[in-house]
Amino acid sequence: MKAIILAGGSGSRLFPVTQVVNKHLLPIYNKPMIYYPLSVVMLLGIREVLLVVNPQDLEMFRKLFGDGTELGMRIDYCIQEKPRGLAEGLILGEKFIGDDTVCYMLGDNIFYGHSLVKVLKEAKEDVEKYGGAYVFGYYVRDPERFGVVEIDDQGKVVSIEEKPKNPKSNYAVVGLYFYDKEAVDIAKKVKPSRRGELEITSVNQAYLRKGKLKVKLLGRGFAWFDAGTYDSFLEAGEFVATLESKTGLMIGCIEEIAYRNGWIDDKKLLDLAERLNQTDYGRYLRTLVEQS
Ligand code: DAU
Repeated sequence: MKAIILAGGSGSRLFPVTQVVNKHLLPIYNKPMIYYPLSVVMLLGIREVLLVVNPQDLEMFRKLFGDGTELGMRIDYCIQEKPRGLAEGLILGEKFIGDDTVCYMLGDNIFYGHSLVKVLKEAKEDVEKYGGAYVFGYYVRDPERFGVVEIDDQGKVVSIEEKPKNPKSNYAVVGLYFYDKEAVDIAKKVKPSRRGELEITSVNQAYLRKGKLKVKLLGRGFAWFDAGTYDSFLEAGEFVATLESKTGLMIGCIEEIAYRNGWIDDKKLLDLAERLNQTDYGRYLRTLVEQS
């Protein structure tokens, strides 16, 4: 499986903060927002990633990640000329996906939870084996802000709607999806919604009509943030700061994950740490080598 991470969009809900700076490069506590979705992809063992970015931001992302070699990965970039909607990333990623399956992630979504990797890996393997699509539901107070999935008592998807006025459940669809390669052709047929965007929910609805959409619920033990508003941005930063200071362990530390995955060695990690100077982040990376 490969991964596509969406890091474009207008970030308009965070204006004026994002008027000239891309949202995904802003700090969630001690690292850029984009590290968090990238870390999830890496935890799933996915080494080939396509970042979808706005034309004016390409150089900054390149400066941050290069071609991914430093992390023992391959990171490619693809320009989305205008924020035409989430489904467009699948069309732009057609060649990259090829005959493979894809983990499709929104660059402003942050996940944390004890068995997160286990739950996601089960769904990933299901799509790799049987095809189709997988989405994840998370219980929220304000489902009308999100995609909403309705589920029957057998755990099957009944409906999925984008920001409905009258939500049929409290389960928000989080910004992480697994698809087989059919997603590209499905996305090509999607028509712009009332708000003028190619909605990812339309892709999911097409899978549902074919009887090929599965859902897993992320229970109470998980934290999920869509860090695209002032409040959720702040909440996510506070959450990471609190947990990291309590445990001394980092969340979303891409260098650590690359190291633990065996994608980079001691020397490379120390080299990366060196560039971070005498920061706590740099010290944390050095400690990983000392402890290993
Ligand atoms: O966060 C989960 C929600 O994300 C889902 O529940 C919704 O079903 C889904 O439509 C999406 O809703 P949002 O309104 O929050 O999407 P937003 O416009 O904030 O874009 C999500 C990410 O994708 C964000 O990191 C920016 C990026 N993006 C967005 C658009 C519209 C792009 O890269 N290109 C785009 O054209």
